[in-house]
Amino acid sequence: MSKKVIYSGIQPSGSLTLGNYIGALSNFAQFQEEFDCLYCIVDMHAITVEQEPAKLRQNALQLLALYLAAGLDPKKSIVYIQSHVPEHAQLEWVLNTITYMGQLNRMTQFKDKSKNRGDNIPVGLFTYPVLMAADILLFQTDYVPVGEDQKQHLEFTRDIAERFNNRYSDTFVVPEVYLPKVGARIMSLQNPEAKMSKSDSDPNASIFLLDPPAVIKKKIKRAVTDSIGEMAYSDEQLGLRNLIDIYSAITGETTDEIVEKYKGQGYGQFKEDLGEFVANKLSPLQERYNEYLQNKELLEEIYRDGAQRASAIAQKTLRKVYKKVGFLPR
Ligand code: TRP
Repeated sequence: MSKKVIYSGIQPSGSLTLGNYIGALSNFAQFQEEFDCLYCIVDMHAITVEQEPAKLRQNALQLLALYLAAGLDPKKSIVYIQSHVPEHAQLEWVLNTITYMGQLNRMTQFKDKSKNRGDNIPVGLFTYPVLMAADILLFQTDYVPVGEDQKQHLEFTRDIAERFNNRYSDTFVVPEVYLPKVGARIMSLQNPEAKMSKSDSDPNASIFLLDPPAVIKKKIKRAVTDSIGEMAYSDEQLGLRNLIDIYSAITGETTDEIVEKYKGQGYGQFKEDLGEFVANKLSPLQERYNEYLQNKELLEEIYRDGAQRASAIAQKTLRKVYKKVGFLPR
C-alpha cells in the first residue's frame, strides 16, 4: 500500500504503432518495480466509434498478448479488460452528474472526432473523458503516463476529482501526468507534422508493431526526409529529426551522438541501420506475442484474475462514493 499507483489504458482498436510502443508500452514494464501498476484494455472507450464486434474481441485478446510480450507481469501488475469491471460505468454515472457540458465541449479530441457528423455525434464520444476519469479515479491513481494528446483529458480528470472532493469531502487522489524520460513524440513517416497514428490511411506512414522486418525496413527507407541532405537534428528537417528520435529511443544513444556518427554520409546508411535496429528490436516482441496468442487458456486466466483484483479495489472506491452522494446501502 505504500507504493504509488500508476494507471494506464490503451484502446483495443487496431494495430499498435511504433509510436505507441516508444511513447507508452515500452515504459510500462519498468514501472512495475517501483509502482503498483494497473494496465487496462479500454474496450468501453473503443466502442465510442463503430467497431466490428468479432474484431473488437480479437483486438482485446491481441492487446493483452502484446502487453504480456512487452514485459507486463500479471503477478506484479493488474492487467485487465475494462468491460469486465462494472465499477467503471457505475462511477462514470456519478461523475457525469458533476461534469459540465462546457468542459466536454472544449475537449480537442471530441472536436476532432465529431467533425463532419452533423447531428449524429454519439453521446459516448462526448462523455469519453468522464469514463476515462472514472478509470483513473477508481484506483486512487497517483500517476498517469500519457502522451501530449491525452493531457487535456488528465486535466479534466483532476478537475473532476477536485470538484467531487470539494463537494463531498476528500475521496479521490488527484492524479498527475507522468512524463516519460524520453519525451519524443513519434511522427508519421510520410508527414512529420502529424503524429504517427494507428488510424492513418497511408500504411507507409506508420510502423506497426507486428510488421515483418522487411516491411519495417522498406517503410523506413521510404520515409520522407528533405533535399538538404545533411545529417542534423533541426526544425528545418522534421522528417529526419523524427527518424533520429526513433533511432535514439531504440538504441539509447543521444541525438547528438547519432548526428555525429552519420555526419557527411547522406541518409542512406543511416536509414538502413535504423531499419535494422527497429526490426531487431521488434522481432523478439513479435515472437513472444505469437506465443501468448496461441495460449488462449493462459490469456483467459490472466484477464479473469486481473478483473477480480481490479474489481476488489474499484468496489472500495465506489462504496465510498455511493455513501458520500447519499445512496442508501443495499
Ligand atoms: N484515452 C486514452 C487514449 O486514447 C486511453 C485511456 C482510456 C486511458 N482510459 C485511460 C489512458 C486511463 C490512461 C488512463 O490514449
